[in-house]
Amino acid sequence: MTQPVAAFAGLGVSNPERILTNADFERMLDTSDSWIRERTGIRERHVAGPEQTTAMLARDASLAALAEAGMGPDDIDTIILATATPDRLLPSTACDLQALLGARNANAFDIGAACSGWIYGLVVGESMIAAGAAERLLVLGAEKLSAVVDYTDRSTAVLFGDGAGAVVLIRSDGARGILSSYLKSDGTLAELLWRPGGGTVHPPSEEMLKDHSYFIKMAGREVFKNAVRSMADAAARALERAGLVADEVDLLVPHQANIRIIEATAAHARIPMDRVYVNVDRYGNTSSASIPIALDEARRCGQLKPGMTVLLVTFGAGFTWGSLVLRW
Ligand code: COA
Repeated sequence: MTQPVAAFAGLGVSNPERILTNADFERMLDTSDSWIRERTGIRERHVAGPEQTTAMLARDASLAALAEAGMGPDDIDTIILATATPDRLLPSTACDLQALLGARNANAFDIGAACSGWIYGLVVGESMIAAGAAERLLVLGAEKLSAVVDYTDRSTAVLFGDGAGAVVLIRSDGARGILSSYLKSDGTLAELLWRPGGGTVHPPSEEMLKDHSYFIKMAGREVFKNAVRSMADAAARALERAGLVADEVDLLVPHQANIRIIEATAAHARIPMDRVYVNVDRYGNTSSASIPIALDEARRCGQLKPGMTVLLVTFGAGFTWGSLVLRW
């Protein structure tokens, strides 16, 4: 059995209070509650207020994670923040978070791996611990997707929500922590899920505002097919690296994008749905924040218990995908 290098010392989340239901979308768009539930499994999603930024959501999640770890902001030496919705293009949202927390002893940087970002961040953090470059890290997924969703486009608007999740990552005692991981990307498929405008290729312009190219665009069917194929493959690879088989997984916590993607991934991985944690119905797709939010809920409702073997699997824009096996 693999010896873990890095483990969780605390986990915290932040979910904005405001909720957008499918009934709200029925009033805004040509859609229906039944269409949204049948195709996606989503009933409602949390949405940040106008003054609430990605860094603020990240701060609230960080403070909860630090409290559980019995640490303060000054104890943290590294902040890794995964986001697809940075508060500004420059500097990183991780630096904004550092300032909000007053984490004076930390280095801070963002990770851009879209929905897969938190898993990517954990692997980077684990590697820094293994290399002796860090000892006490905050690793976050934090998103304000409502700021980049086109609320006139029914094919994407109904899918996304806002939120943040944070863990304090420390050196493992050898019993609990990350047992294995697998990361993969395919940049040739970038245009299937992207925000074309606003960067250096198409800098902000009046045209950009008119054609909505600042917002998320997606080829839903293609994304769906790629997500199922890639998540199934990633699940198998992380298990193989940990020397485990599907029967030994106590809980699968997949990226919460769509109930049909989750069910197909679980079927490929040969893990029955009673060992899969699902909360996409109440949060929608919160991108990099979805897995830590699901983990936090799973432990609160008693589905995730100490000593369990947990498989995390994710997929996002890039395309990026990956997986991670944890001893909880
Ligand atoms: N309400 C009602 N109808 C809708 C709709 C909505 N919210 N969104 C799309 N439709 C319509 C389409 O316009 C289309 O109509 P048409 O046949 O008249 O052109 C029809 O529904 C079918 O669209 P299609 O895109 O083929 O549906 P689908 O079964 O593939 O479901 C998604 C659409 C987006 C739910 C699905 O493709 C999906 O979940 N993809 C993955 C998305 C995802 O998870 N992305 C993030 C990955 S990290």
